[in-house]
Amino acid sequence: MVDTKTQYHKIKAEVDAAVIAVMESSQFIGGKPVNDFAEALAKYHGSKHVIPCANGTDALQIAMMALGLKPGDEVITPSFTYIATVEVAALLNIKPVFVEVDKKTFCIDPAAIEKAITPKTKAIIPVHLYGHAADMEAIMEIAAKHNLFVIEDNAQAIGNDYIFSNGTTKKTGSIGHIGCTSFYPSKNLGAFGDGGAIFTDDDALAIKLKMIASHGQSKRYYHDVVGCNSRLDTMQAAILNIKLGHLDEYIAARRKAADYYDAAFAGNKKIEIPFRKGNNKHVFHQYTLILHDTDRDALNQFLADKGVPSMIYYPVPAHRQKMFDAFGGNSYQLPDTDWLTERVISLPIHTELDEEQQAFIVSQVLEFTGR
Ligand SMILES: Cc1ncc(COP(=O)(O)O)c(C=O)c1O
Repeated sequence: MVDTKTQYHKIKAEVDAAVIAVMESSQFIGGKPVNDFAEALAKYHGSKHVIPCANGTDALQIAMMALGLKPGDEVITPSFTYIATVEVAALLNIKPVFVEVDKKTFCIDPAAIEKAITPKTKAIIPVHLYGHAADMEAIMEIAAKHNLFVIEDNAQAIGNDYIFSNGTTKKTGSIGHIGCTSFYPSKNLGAFGDGGAIFTDDDALAIKLKMIASHGQSKRYYHDVVGCNSRLDTMQAAILNIKLGHLDEYIAARRKAADYYDAAFAGNKKIEIPFRKGNNKHVFHQYTLILHDTDRDALNQFLADKGVPSMIYYPVPAHRQKMFDAFGGNSYQLPDTDWLTERVISLPIHTELDEEQQAFIVSQVLEFTGR
């Protein structure tokens, strides 16, 4: 699905030098590379504060802790997402309240959010799934009206420019009270291991987020609140700082690959190409089709037999996962989420795809579906 090896070889000299510099310094935790990366990312992102951490899952957990969410509070999230988004809520005994997504954008449906608000609701967690932005303008309006926090799960959409109706543009992940992202190796900005970051413009929140990520310390060995240990290690920061300089070109390569697929599948009645709402610049973390009147799992197997990877993101929505039985997961009626879960399939998309590879992938998909 990705080709991180070729991508590395294109920037090998820079990356190798940065890694060797960290090894020579023998400062493996914290230090200048971490600070430099946080500063560069804040600038790129247009966020006042960036708190690096160990992974995207931790970022979400630390965000919920910093906002003071308590057991019994409710957070409204899509069920059609990667499990991390909602798992950390459950871990903190916060109730995830699952709502529908928009069948076109795959992102949380603002109308469904309004209906799910109760006196216990404390936050909304939109996920910019596959790299397409959730409808942040509507979500922020709902949050303001009901005095709720917004935590953006931006793990799949770093670099997406969201355009408000008044024409202003902001990066996804910098619009809510807190944004969270992941540097998992296959992400659009991927480390050579795990990594994550938290974004906020709020000075007081930034202090709390930093403290919680560092054992609740206000200064070394003085622990003011219960926290955790979540650090972006120095080597990852050094690598990410180099890759950040290439992020816009990586996004452009993904969008070009998406354009190629779009053109190749256009007009095919069985294949619905990814919708691109005009209010944001889809960064195509995934290229995900909706199949109509097609045996999706058979196509998945057919492609595998031809040496073409394809993936189902995600085969079981969160509300149907066993882990949420205790939270009444199975009592939810989310027909659009179920509908999508049965029909989506993602094709390889990354920065190194060439037209020859794409032509082969397309030919195999069309051999199965018909033209
Ligand atoms: C939507 C979403 N949220 C959260 C995460 C968690 O990130 P990580 O794997 O870095 O913990 C991921 C990625 O894996 C993700 O895709």
